[in-house]
Amino acid sequence: RRYSRITGTGSYLPPRLVTNDDLVAELAQRGIETSDQWIVERTGIKARHFAGRDVASSDLAVEASRRAIEAAGITADDIDLIIVATSTPDMVFPSTAAILQNKLGVHGCPAFDVQAVCSGFVYALTVADAMLQTGAANRALVVGSEVFSRILDFNDRTTCVLFGDGAGAVVLEASDKPGILASDLHADGRHVDILCVPGNVYGGQILGDPLLKMDGQAVFKLAVGVLEKAARATLEKANLTDADIDWLIPHQANIRIMQSTARKLKLPMEKVIVTVDQHGNTSAASIPLALDHGVRTGQIKPGQNLLLEGVGGGFTWGAVLLTM
Ligand code: ACO
Repeated sequence: RRYSRITGTGSYLPPRLVTNDDLVAELAQRGIETSDQWIVERTGIKARHFAGRDVASSDLAVEASRRAIEAAGITADDIDLIIVATSTPDMVFPSTAAILQNKLGVHGCPAFDVQAVCSGFVYALTVADAMLQTGAANRALVVGSEVFSRILDFNDRTTCVLFGDGAGAVVLEASDKPGILASDLHADGRHVDILCVPGNVYGGQILGDPLLKMDGQAVFKLAVGVLEKAARATLEKANLTDADIDWLIPHQANIRIMQSTARKLKLPMEKVIVTVDQHGNTSAASIPLALDHGVRTGQIKPGQNLLLEGVGGGFTWGAVLLTM
């Protein structure tokens, strides 16, 4: 049987670090009041990185990809499939994956984007795994990359303090030993309105609001309800139990959602990779950023079982269980 395994990870954060205090000062100039204490208590976020106005998702993606490719000990020419998860693409079309392919200096392999907001990376990993299992590809580059700062409403304190920019990538290779063990994906389009960027273009003009809108409490309630189910579904499919999980790598939206999921899976917080404090919510990039952080700090070791889980706009959610 053919499986797929992660053979390299990489990530990249734009250099500009914005602490809560920096943001508090910036927002004060607009007459908007917030505080480090409110942000830390409600979300666990202390800082985030923001890209500049001329920096696009593909620019962050190419740096993360180069690091993942180097870690896998291959060259960009060896990649035969590129999937990018993003909700902040460089252009309406073509895909950020096609732009990334060109920036990596490789040509010809299939390249496309997956759009599932903060669940994008678990969706993209599942699609790549399926294509590797069937033999459609042998070495995939799977990337989550976002510049959410572009779509934040800095007059809305309930959302602009939550998000950041960044990218994470993995090289996923076909193997006769299992890497990805199981995945479980879902969407429920009844909840489109609770988290969306409703605007679009028509005849060269912006139609509707082009900035992020969120009903935070509705998202919170849905998120804590669905994540345990998806996680348990992957364990069941792989014939494993809670005790077999070495690391939980959740989408980094809010420390309280992460603590709630860990509690339900009977995992101590020592088994959860946490980067939300320094990265904020980087949407589709948050899981591969946290994964790379865990690998490079030596926390995650070969042979360990990881549970990746994400939830986001759509409403979408899902989990991937894998052995490193
Ligand atoms: N600073 C200070 N006060 C604030 C701020 C702020 N930045 N934002 C809101 N408040 C105020 C509100 O106005 C409200 O004041 P009021 O009581 O006088 O009306 C009070 O704080 C409480 O507001 P709530 O919305 O009830 O706060 P809550 O505890 O629900 O926390 C939060 C809000 C952090 C957004 C929470 O609901 C949450 O984390 N939700 C999940 C969000 C999430 O994970 N989203 C990402 C999903 S991933 C994706 O797909 C992009």
